[in-house]
Amino acid sequence: MRNLNRKDLITLLNQQPMFKTISAVADDLHMECYVVGGYVRDLFLERPSKDIDVVVVGSGIDMAQALGRRLGRGVHVSVFRNFGTAQVKYKGQEVEFVGARRESYSHDSRKPIVEDGTLEDDQRRRDFTINALAVCLNADRYGELVDPFDGVWDLQDRVIATPLDPDITFSDDPLRMMRCIRFATQLNFTIEQDTLDALQRNRERIKIISGERIIDELHKIIVSDSPAMGFELLFQTGLLELIFPELAALQGVETVGGRAHKDNFWHTLEVLTNVVKSGGGEWLRWAALLHDIGKPRTKRFDPKQGWTFHNHNFVGEKMVPDIFRRLKLPMDERMKYVQKLVGLHMRPIAIADDEVTDSAVRRLLFEAGDDIDDLMLLCEADITSRNQQRKQRFLDNFQLVRQKLVDLEERDRIRCFQPPVTGDEIIRIFNLSPSPVIGKLKTAVKDAILDGVIPNEHDAALEFVMKRAEELGLSPAKS
Ligand code: CTP
Repeated sequence: MRNLNRKDLITLLNQQPMFKTISAVADDLHMECYVVGGYVRDLFLERPSKDIDVVVVGSGIDMAQALGRRLGRGVHVSVFRNFGTAQVKYKGQEVEFVGARRESYSHDSRKPIVEDGTLEDDQRRRDFTINALAVCLNADRYGELVDPFDGVWDLQDRVIATPLDPDITFSDDPLRMMRCIRFATQLNFTIEQDTLDALQRNRERIKIISGERIIDELHKIIVSDSPAMGFELLFQTGLLELIFPELAALQGVETVGGRAHKDNFWHTLEVLTNVVKSGGGEWLRWAALLHDIGKPRTKRFDPKQGWTFHNHNFVGEKMVPDIFRRLKLPMDERMKYVQKLVGLHMRPIAIADDEVTDSAVRRLLFEAGDDIDDLMLLCEADITSRNQQRKQRFLDNFQLVRQKLVDLEERDRIRCFQPPVTGDEIIRIFNLSPSPVIGKLKTAVKDAILDGVIPNEHDAALEFVMKRAEELGLSPAKS
């Protein structure tokens, strides 16, 4: 956050030639005109600027059309009469124009009833004080900041608060509840107490927001520097239970006969943070969020073993497509990647817990393929034990697994496994028509390679096939 006086603001505005042109057009039309919202906020926060939003006291559409005429060649103006807005695109820059307005909302929709208003009416209807800053563009007041809700103070104090009573702001447009948590997470700001309480009170209103808009905000939280903070806020306010019940269901600790299991929600957030620290991208972060998602459904108490979550990785793997579909996440290879990591996330731990054999590592490499490195990152992130000795033992064993992965990969090239003897070759040699026996032979070759019985080479594999075929009573066709 930097402090900007009018002179500084003028210098910054002058770096974007578009503002001078808008200023001249606004003065010609005798209309008050301001740059508002995220653009101004980001000037103070020294964040890269994106699209420009301009509020005009009068018709935003008239203003955009006049600007279009002034800019001439290469300009594209789109008018949205229903919304009273217009967009000007010029040399890669987008400027959105809207007339200053007052808005009132009905209970069951995000569509407001709109009337003309003053600049302050317009600022009041915005989501947060830090997004309600305006800078005048008319020549006589060029660079003057208009900040009736003390947005700059809130930027300084790193606080998210609403200009109006937060119950009204959130009830008017419940998407703002997600935006509130998203901004707090992205900017590492605190949510002011009244605003935080209102999130909880108004949480049920999130139900009128489309899945696409919710996932858009969730995406911004996930790719931020500290996504766990966003999920903690979503949980605290009760929003998580409404938008992502499977994740909220991980929270809680049960105790039977004095034996408790760990809280899987807080554990998951720790794993997420660890993955972020090790440079994990968006989909590895999703895998971290979902790695234990099958635990509530598999939880059992066994008097001998204590709490168990048998097969939670496989149950979780099966839950991934439904979760992706419901959350409007992509149902393509990204979903498959997350599914694979959730399914395999117990494997390196199981290997490291036991004797690290070549065969187990080769099989892991075969199943994980090119995602093996991400899987290892996830598994290391998953070790959140407070017992330092235990933690160190796992990490040391993982080092061993990693070393074996490197050695075996060099020798056996399992990562992108292609059977060294193909089905076609088997058909030709034994003059077979397609039949289950071909699959059987191929599986036997694959297992022999993964178990280290034969090297991953054509001649050795062929010899193995010939022997196995003979045992099955097959003989090569005469050439
Ligand atoms: N706005 C709002 N309520 C919303 C969405 C937007 O009041 N539900 C207002 C805010 O003043 C915001 C401006 O419209 O600053 C522009 O919105 P948008 O471009 O969505 O957000 P930015 O604040 O620019 O931030 P980001 O691009 O990170 O979403």
